[in-house]
This record gives sequence, C-alpha cells and structure tokens, in this order.
Amino acid sequence: MSASIPGDYVIRSIRADEWPAVKELRLRALRDPVADLAFLDTYEDAAARPDSFWQERAAGGAEGASGAQQIVAEGPGGLWLGTLTVLMEEAGSTDWAGFPVERRQGHVVGVFVRPEWRGSGLTKALFAAGLDWAWANGAERMRLIVHPDNERAQGAYRKAGFAPSGRTVPLVGGTGDYELEYVLER
Ligand SMILES: CC(C)(COP(=O)(O)OP(=O)(O)OC[C@H]1O[C@@H](n2cnc3c(N)ncnc32)[C@H](O)[C@@H]1OP(=O)(O)O)[C@@H](O)C(=O)NCCC(=O)NCCS
Repeated sequence: MSASIPGDYVIRSIRADEWPAVKELRLRALRDPVADLAFLDTYEDAAARPDSFWQERAAGGAEGASGAQQIVAEGPGGLWLGTLTVLMEEAGSTDWAGFPVERRQGHVVGVFVRPEWRGSGLTKALFAAGLDWAWANGAERMRLIVHPDNERAQGAYRKAGFAPSGRTVPLVGGTGDYELEYVLER
C-alpha cells in the first residue's frame, strides 16, 4: 500500500515510551528548509540533548498528561507523518514572552508535517485532535505564534479556523524581528 494515500493514517496522542520517535521527528522537523522561521530551536542543540530530555518531553505530552498533549499522525509501518503539541496555559499566569494569560488557553506548538504529506488534509486532522483535547481540558481559547514570512503555515492555520489576533510577539535577541499571534475562540 502506498504511503501517499490521504487518510491512510491514525491520529492519536503519544505514549511516554515513544520518546525515540519524538526525538526522531523533532530532528527531522529541525532540518526543514523553513526551520529557522518555524522553530525556536536548532538541529545542533536538539541533537546534543541527552535521552533524559526526550524522555521528559514525551512523558509530559503523553496520553493522560494534563499540562500538554503531543498529537501524531501514524502512518503505515508505524512511521510518524506529522505532529503538533498543545500546551495548556493557565489564567493568571505569565507566558514565556512576559505577557499575562487572561484565560485558560491551549497554545499550539511544534507543528510539523513531513513534506510528502503536506496538502493532504493531515494537518487539519492533527488540529482537530489537538482542539478536541484542549476543549476537553477546559481551554476557553486556542492560540499559536507564527512568523510573518511563514505563509504556508499561516494558510494551514487559517484552514484550521485560526485568525490573527493583531498581537505581535517580539523574538528574543532584540533584533526587532517579531511573530504573529493567531487565535481561535471556542
Ligand atoms: C506548516 C505545515 C504543518 C502546514 O501543513 P500543510 O499540510 O503544508 O498545510 P496545508 O497544505 O493543509 O495548508 C496550507 C495552505 O496554505 C497555502 N499556501 C501554501 N504556500 C503558501 C504561500 N507561500 N502563501 C500563501 N499560502 C500558501 C496552501 O495552498 C494551503 O491552502 P489551500 O489548501 O487552500 O490551497 C507544514 O507545511 C510544515 O510542516 N511546514 C514546515 C514546518 C512549519 O513551518 N511549521 C509551522 C511552525 S509555526
């Protein structure tokens, strides 16, 4: 069976013991041509992290965890074709950029789909599962941050129901570069 048949995959949360696959897909994502725009991380840094880092990341986002959930699309042979992670942000907390979080919300990060599966509908299916998890865990809205030059990602986010909030988030390093916040109200 060809792996290019749209829909030929299962969307599910990861298990903690699947940390080697979490690591493999993340390193693949960090080799993407747009990785500089898409991820606040580098291949070199990620590749140098110890197994304990990936074990903790997988456990923190595994089925049954309450603070985060990593969703994957698993294709034939068990290959992970794409992923996203939803982080729960609590009302009254301060986000990583120093802004107050006003409502309990799900923050979508680490969105990546292998190139041969892009445009297949798989990304939308990942979002549907991520949203289901966030709503079931009491999120009142969803958000994500995207670079203004990452037009394909913005197209995918609009298709998943997100829209620009009008807020921008400065990138670390004081370069004057910034990213866009997209939101989806429940
Ligand atoms: C971002 C990503 C997950 C999106 O998944 P995808 O399957 O490629 O997205 P889709 O094809 O479903 O949707 C993208 C939409 O944007 C459109 N698009 C593509 N390139 C575009 C461009 N340069 N400008 C405007 N729109 C564009 C597509 O046509 C499509 O819309 P359509 O289905 O109406 O034609 C995937 O491209 C990816 O993994 N990219 C690399 C990592 C990345 O950028 N992650 C996001 C970090 S914020």
